[in-house]
Parts: sequence; structure tokens; C-alpha cells
Amino acid sequence: MNSEKIFIANWKMNKNFNESLEFVKELKLISSKIKNKRIIICPSYICIREIIKELLDTNIEIGAQNCFWENIGNYTGEISPKMLKSIGVNYVLLGHSERKRYFQENNNIINKKICACLKNNLKIILCIGERNKNTNLAEIFSQLQECLYNINFEYIKNNFIIAYEPTWAIGTGLCMNPAEANNVCGNIRDFFNKKYDYPDINILYGGSINNTNSHEFLIQKNINGVLIGNASLDFTKFMEILN
Ligand code: PGA
Repeated sequence: MNSEKIFIANWKMNKNFNESLEFVKELKLISSKIKNKRIIICPSYICIREIIKELLDTNIEIGAQNCFWENIGNYTGEISPKMLKSIGVNYVLLGHSERKRYFQENNNIINKKICACLKNNLKIILCIGERNKNTNLAEIFSQLQECLYNINFEYIKNNFIIAYEPTWAIGTGLCMNPAEANNVCGNIRDFFNKKYDYPDINILYGGSINNTNSHEFLIQKNINGVLIGNASLDFTKFMEILN
């Protein structure tokens, strides 16, 4: 399995323009010392361009938190994958449970967004996870089936990160047990192995990760990294998670 660990900071609707810039300027100062780690920052749309400029000479990558499924047209308020690509975005985060909860996104919509990203050569961070407290592999597998419907394997192989995030653990401070999370991620890995002969897919855990519990997840065999919400807003905590 890949030894490089992946750290995704999902800032959601939290940092304003100045706060975002301040954070990445600090991050830039230490970026050359970060080895064997892939860092992806997902700021608000309004900061993306400026952050990309700021981080140009570093290995830190940028993701958008969402996108629309068309490239152009009369869709008031939406941002297209083509627009994101044009300013140098690398990743798009799709399927986050907050998008499902507040904006009624379903697997069909997520699939359309994945197809649109595919056409624009954008990489995907696909969030999946059960709604209720009990682990439900059938629910997770059907999310994967439906979200990846008709998506070409070559694209999946080179462009996907899966983020396993049990909905009940997101933003609640209630973290899943790391061994249990490892077990679910192992089952997700088996799914990719059986369906695509691709066990090496990167699978992250997300849900109330912080500077005290991250290590327990990062040492698990089937977990390639972490997706961090709240704790990624604080530079010191984020550094502690990275180290
Ligand atoms: P959290 O958010 O770390 O605040 O639980 C994780 C996420 O939303 O992906």
C-alpha cells in the first residue's frame, strides 16, 4: 500500500478571505519540510484563486468543496468544473454529508458531478458513509455503485480519493473507533479490488479527527489519511495532526 499519507483540510464555510490567506502563508513557510505527505486544502470558492497563487511553488494542492454538473449556462449561483479547472484547482470534494443534508444531494446528482469533473480532468475526493450510528456496509456499497455508475476505470484509478465519513461522527466530536474505521476501510478496499481489481485506492477516514486522535487512525493498515473539518481551522492543531 501507498506509504504517503494524505491530509485534507475541509474549511467549509468558516474562514473568510483574510483568515484563509493568513493560514496558507504560514503553511507555505514550513511546506518544504513536509515530506511524504500529500496536503490538500479545500477553502471557500472566494479564496481559491489567491491561495493557488500563494502556494504556487509548494507541493500543497487545492480542492473546491463542491461544483455544478454543467460547464456553462443559466444556473444562478453555481460554479462549474470548467471554471475551477481554469484557475488551477486540482481536486473537487463531492458527496459530503452536509451537501446531502442541506442541499438534498443524492447519489445521482453526485454521479453527474463526477462525470462533469471527469470531462475537465479534475480529481475527486468522494465522501461516503452511513447515515445512522450502526455501520452499514450495504449502504456504503450502494453509494459507491451509484456514485461511480458508468465512470471509466482509468479515471477512477488515477483520480480518486475515497473519504469514509460516518455521518454521525462529522462535526460532533464523536470519533469512530479507529480499529472499526480500519475495518470499514478494508471492506471498501475489497469493493475496489473485486470490482476494478484495484486494491490500492486511497481511502481516508473523516469525522471529528483532531490533534489527539489522528495518530490512531494514521497507523491503521487500511487508512491512507484523514479528512479534517473543525481541527483544520486552527493552524497549530493542523500542524500537530501533520506531524
Ligand atoms: P469534522 O468534519 O472533522 O469537523 O468532523 C469532517 C468533515 O466534515 O469532513
